[in-house]
Amino acid sequence: MPEFDPYVIAIDGPGGSGKGSLALAVARTLGFHLLDSGAIYRLAALRALGLGIDLSKQARVVDALENMDIRFEFGDELSIPFLDNKDVSHAIRQESTGNAASIIAQYPGVRKQLLGRQRACFQPPGLVADGRDLGTVVFPTAKFKFFLYAAPEIRALRRYKQLNSMGISANIDDLQTEIAERDERDRTRTESPLIPAADAIIVDSSLLNQIQVTNLVMSHIEQEVAG
Ligand code: DC
Repeated sequence: MPEFDPYVIAIDGPGGSGKGSLALAVARTLGFHLLDSGAIYRLAALRALGLGIDLSKQARVVDALENMDIRFEFGDELSIPFLDNKDVSHAIRQESTGNAASIIAQYPGVRKQLLGRQRACFQPPGLVADGRDLGTVVFPTAKFKFFLYAAPEIRALRRYKQLNSMGISANIDDLQTEIAERDERDRTRTESPLIPAADAIIVDSSLLNQIQVTNLVMSHIEQEVAG
């Protein structure tokens, strides 16, 4: 049994800021559970799309999420997302799915539906959770809150490389436009917008590589925990 109370590390930020890789590295280092909340929104979007729902109709989207069966199988390198018992690893990473997720994520009814599922991931010895509102809404009392930022053109390039490495073709100019649109929608929605929590530590990862960002964040955590 660990000699500390379980705690949450919330990592928020826009797409392509590197929060997913950071969350994975921190969770591995500490032996904590990992929550990729964006994946939950993406699974919800896939469910609605699969049922042929018009995403502009909030009530219909919310209904489509009733009894949604989602789970993640954790392997060494990545976790495999399942929607209603089907492996959706490929579909979930498409930019069109990210966009659909951003559209339905504006709806209070959808966010409410997905809140409990996210909170249930907090189990001993602790949780590293990444997304847009983890430090503000899902885990407002998280022990650590980080907000990752990176310049839009750098985020587009990272997304491009990430998609390529998964065998998904993409055009960098289109990606930059889509990222800008998605940022705008995520930032300006009334329900749980993408904003840093008042007590979040802001990290600009534009000029840092993944190892440097992880070291920076881990040094904050270690300093505080060693206290
Ligand atoms: O991080 P991502 O690209 O997988 O997230 C996809 C979309 O899901 C994102 O554009 C907005 C939404 N989302 C959200 O509203 N709140 C979260 N905590 C995580 C994701």
